[in-house]
Amino acid sequence: MDNESPLKAIMVVTATALVCSILVTVTAVSLQPIQRAYRDLERNRHIVGVSGLLEVTDDVPDRQIVMAFQGLDARLVDLDRGVFDDDVNPDTFDARKAASDPEFGVPIPAAQDIAALGRRSRLVTVYVVEDADGLQRIIFPVYGKGMWSMLSGFLALESDLNTIAGITFHEQGETAGIGDRILAPNWQARWRGRKLYDAQDTLRFRIAKAAVDPAAPDAAFEVDGLTGATVTADAVTNLVRYWFGPHGFAKFLDNYSAAGDTR
Ligand SMILES: Cc1cc2nc3c(=O)[nH]c(=O)nc-3n(C[C@H](O)[C@H](O)[C@H](O)COP(=O)(O)O)c2cc1C
Repeated sequence: MDNESPLKAIMVVTATALVCSILVTVTAVSLQPIQRAYRDLERNRHIVGVSGLLEVTDDVPDRQIVMAFQGLDARLVDLDRGVFDDDVNPDTFDARKAASDPEFGVPIPAAQDIAALGRRSRLVTVYVVEDADGLQRIIFPVYGKGMWSMLSGFLALESDLNTIAGITFHEQGETAGIGDRILAPNWQARWRGRKLYDAQDTLRFRIAKAAVDPAAPDAAFEVDGLTGATVTADAVTNLVRYWFGPHGFAKFLDNYSAAGDTR
């Protein structure tokens, strides 16, 4: 075929585009498991960080994170019944995906959907930290809609299942310098020791509008506000209140506290 022919030019361009798109697709697909492994490792770094087992800094090697994570007892909680469910493997169960699965997902009644999720899975993986003295902490996944993005993290409770041991967010896309201040270690440190529920079992936790006065009657349940980022801060209040409210872990916490265990 003549090199000047327009048909030849079209065929060469089409063949090149086809080869390139196949190469890009094959590369993207083959990299997926590696990307997933890195994402899981990063998420596990956050979980270990609130477990109390290890002081997690950037210097802690991946190997140590993996070992500490393996020491946690991953369990599935059936939110509707408020008990552990041992029929499904917690290591492979993806509660975020399962929310849209007809077998596991349930719609969230509009009046209770303060985290703007629409649906959630009936089963959710939690991480139990135990030692020779018994229960130390339980780490709960929490997520909900922020101003611009899904805010997703883990909240660890002390063995009284009311006192906050730690909070971490492993996923968020709020504005840098405004909403992303929820990642600041000194702000997250202020969550430690705050309570979720009062003596009447009313969920009182919230992010305040400004700095909390330690002498105020609500101080035990409040964390300092993020001025200029109240939309994100309110979303954090709402996601905590959803996940520890009646459609979230409240039933499980009641059962666990009453029985000492729900196995
Ligand atoms: C471009 C832009 C990005 C913003 N991003 C955030 C954000 O990520 N989170 C947030 O809470 N507020 C953000 N805000 C500010 C909110 O619109 C709102 O003013 C603020 O949350 C109110 O907080 P305040 O009552 O403490 O002033 C942003 C504002 C602008 C103009």
